[in-house]
Amino acid sequence: MRRPFVAGNWKMNMTRQSSVELAEAIAAGLSSDIDVAVCPPSVYLDAVSKSLAGSQVGIGAQNIYHEASGAFTGEISAEMILDLGCRYVILGHSERRNVLSESNADVNQKLKTALAAGLVPIVCLGELLEQREAGETLQVIQEQFDGSFEAITAEQMRSCVIAYEPVWAIGTGKVATPDQAEEVHADIRRIMTERFDSETADAVRIQYGGSVKPDNATELMSQPNIDGALVGGASLKADSFLAIISASQQTQTT
Ligand code: PGA
Repeated sequence: MRRPFVAGNWKMNMTRQSSVELAEAIAAGLSSDIDVAVCPPSVYLDAVSKSLAGSQVGIGAQNIYHEASGAFTGEISAEMILDLGCRYVILGHSERRNVLSESNADVNQKLKTALAAGLVPIVCLGELLEQREAGETLQVIQEQFDGSFEAITAEQMRSCVIAYEPVWAIGTGKVATPDQAEEVHADIRRIMTERFDSETADAVRIQYGGSVKPDNATELMSQPNIDGALVGGASLKADSFLAIISASQQTQTT
């Protein structure tokens, strides 16, 4: 059975102080034993990491660069985020793909670097609205999967988390219906079975992301192939993030 995993993607929000307060409120309010992580802006990783020391809440970065060190102004390496206590890194988020022009090849390079460093990558896949409307969703997901996971072994795949995030649902309040999400999640599992084997496909957790809120989390998390959530807006308040975490925990036990 896959252990649910809920991660909060704080994006480019918060201050040093509000980051620490939010992290502390989440750690204090947590009563579930599923996997939980927060992904603050990189400049606050150190402060959040210190405030979460000894807690059950893991920490992730929102991005890394694929090189280990050198003349790459503005970038941060896998070793640097490990040094700050990170276990996870979000890769290929749609905002990086669509706003910052990251390609599948870029995601693949970063993924290999993250895996070599022992990080747990959360690799995001998801279609644009026009691609969904043109009936291209499954094809887009297949292409993103093939490009992002190129030359990855089954063993490496089992160390990864996937987040299916339909771009039209991110930050828009337009959540995918449980059926729409489940269809794509099941398809991602089929892709992994074809590329690797059914043990690998069964082992990898696939989070859903895109306007997850306390009032829609239970229904989404009850789907057989949805194993948690990557939460943006609703992870910026301890109450709503904790409510999503308990919804994910409950669906595991029911
Ligand atoms: P949202 O963002 O929950 O605000 O829609 C999700 C994400 O981008 O990871």
